Amino acid sequence: MMGAIDARHFRNAMGEMPTGVTVITTSDEGGTPFGMTVSSFGSLSLDPPLVLWSVIETSYCMPVFAKSKAFAINVLAHDQEVVSRVFCSPMDRFSHVAWNRGLHDSPLIDGAAAWIECVREKLARGGDHRIFIARVLNARTFDRKPLLHWRGDYGSVTTMAQA
Ligand SMILES: Cc1cc2nc3c(=O)[nH]c(=O)nc-3n(C[C@H](O)[C@H](O)[C@H](O)COP(=O)(O)O)c2cc1C
Repeated sequence: MMGAIDARHFRNAMGEMPTGVTVITTSDEGGTPFGMTVSSFGSLSLDPPLVLWSVIETSYCMPVFAKSKAFAINVLAHDQEVVSRVFCSPMDRFSHVAWNRGLHDSPLIDGAAAWIECVREKLARGGDHRIFIARVLNARTFDRKPLLHWRGDYGSVTTMAQA
């Protein structure tokens, strides 16, 4: 239920803001990998190094994410649109990508632009989502252009110098 603003207008306005695209992963106690496409990811603090993202309460991943102590953020590269689509679909997600286990078994996906490994600091409620705040322990970059999401579509980066 939305307050004064119409849900469509809210979505449209948010769609004007381009974001990167991540797949955030973790493992359950038995080592089964879980992951989902997330564009609400962002940096929160430099000292200590904190990041945040939000997950809808009804997500299939939520019960595992809510218990997990460690996560990996896979910042998708420009040629990983299909990975973004797979990780918000009902497919067997991890059979469609090459990956390895990182810190506390959180999956690191091959071909990403960056991997950010973190442990949970806080979990807060925010409307129909939960906000995850995590402390970064490791980060690696691979000098690949990122995948962008804008107005419900995918793109990549062209810098002013390249235009
Ligand atoms: C580009 C993109 C960004 C998304 N960002 C988020 C997000 O920040 N938080 C969220 O809860 N869902 C987000 N989703 C939707 C979830 O990926 C999707 O609802 C979820 O994976 C559904 O599967 P599940 O219920 O099996 O987890 C996003 C989807 C796409 C395509």
